[in-house]
Amino acid sequence: MKILLTGGAGFIGSHLAERYLELGHKVYVIDDLSTGCIDNVKPLMEDPRYEGKLFFHHDSIFNGEKLLDLVGICDRVVHLAAAVGVQYILDNPLSSLKTNIQGTEIVLGLCHRFQKKVLIASTSEVYGNQSHAPLVETDGCAYGPSTKARWSYAASKLMDEFMALGYHRSMDLPVVIARFFNTVGPRQTGRYGMVIPRLVGQAMRNEPLTVYGDGRQTRTFTHVKDAVESVVRLMDAGGAEGEVINIGGAEEVSILDLARRIKEKTGSHSEIRLIPYDVVFPKDFEDMQRRVPGTDKLFGLTGFRPLTKLDAILDDVIAHSRAAQA
Ligand SMILES: NC(=O)c1ccc[n+]([C@@H]2O[C@H](COP(=O)([O-])OP(=O)(O)OC[C@H]3O[C@@H](n4cnc5c(N)ncnc54)[C@H](O)[C@@H]3O)[C@@H](O)[C@H]2O)c1
Repeated sequence: MKILLTGGAGFIGSHLAERYLELGHKVYVIDDLSTGCIDNVKPLMEDPRYEGKLFFHHDSIFNGEKLLDLVGICDRVVHLAAAVGVQYILDNPLSSLKTNIQGTEIVLGLCHRFQKKVLIASTSEVYGNQSHAPLVETDGCAYGPSTKARWSYAASKLMDEFMALGYHRSMDLPVVIARFFNTVGPRQTGRYGMVIPRLVGQAMRNEPLTVYGDGRQTRTFTHVKDAVESVVRLMDAGGAEGEVINIGGAEEVSILDLARRIKEKTGSHSEIRLIPYDVVFPKDFEDMQRRVPGTDKLFGLTGFRPLTKLDAILDDVIAHSRAAQA
C-alpha cells in the first residue's frame, strides 16, 4: 500500500514511517519542517532496504496542488501535521490555529474527494481541565476562557474531531480519530515544552531540572513505538471508522517523581527546582492536574494497548540522548 503521512518528518511521523516501511509499504511524507526535522527521516531515506520506498516532500499541507497529487496517488492518509506543544502554541497563537483547523479541513476535503481512508491525530488536551481517571472517549470537555491561549490547542483539535466526524456522517468518509496522550521516545525534541526530553536534556547538562508548579500534577507517558503500533492497527480495524479512540500509557507519575527518576537514571548532579507557573508562562496558561487515559476501546478494537513501563521509556530516551551527544 501507499501511505501518505502529513507531518511525517516529525517525532511520531518518522517512527510511523519506519514502521510502515518495515511492513513493506511505500511511504510518502509531506512536511514543512516547522517543528519536524529532515534528520528524523534521512536515515530511512538512505537505508538500502527502503530504496524507492520513501518519498519526502518538503512542503506545506497548504500547498493544495501538491497535496492533491499526493492524496490522489496514496491509498491511506495519516494526518499528523499540526502546531504542537504548549510553548509553541503560546508563541504562535494565530498560525497554530490556522494550521490545526484550516490545514485539517484541506486534508479532509481531499480525502473525501478521492475517498481515501484517513486517521486524524487529536490529543488528550481535548478533555481539558478534568482530574478524574480514567478519561474515556465519552467524557465531556472542560476549557478555561478563550482569553487563555493555551486552550486554543485543545479547541482547535476538538474542531478537527467535529469536522472529521462530520465528513464521516455526512459524506461516508472512512475516518479514524486518535487521541494521543503524552507520547515520548527517541527523536522527540524538548524545544516546544515536552517535559521528558526537556528534563533529560537538563539532567545531562547538569543544569537544574525545572519542575513547574508544585510538581504534584500527574501524567502517563506512552512509548512512541506503542503509539505507532496502535495507529497501524487502528487503520486496519474496520470498527474504528467514525470513532474517537484514546492512545495512551498506563503508569501514572507525578512530574516531581518523574524528575527524581530522571536525575537518578542519568546520574546527574542537578538540583530539582520548582518554578511557579506564572514565571514560566507569564500569561495565558493553566495546567491540568491529572491526565490518565482509558484504553479499553483501543484494546477492544485492536487487541493492543500501550504497556511499556515508564522506566523502559526513560532508559530509551536517555540512551538516545547519549548517543546523539557522542
Ligand atoms: N507527541 C505527543 O505527545 C502528542 C500528544 C497529543 C497529540 N499529538 C499529535 O500528534 C501529531 C504529531 O505530533 P508530534 O509529537 O510528532 O509533533 P511534531 O511537531 O514532531 O510533528 C508535527 C509535524 O508536522 C509538521 N508540520 C506542521 N505544520 C505543517 C504544515 N503546514 N505542513 C506540513 N507539515 C507541517 C512539523 O514540521 C512536524 O514535523 C500532532 O498532530 C499532534 O497534535 C502528539
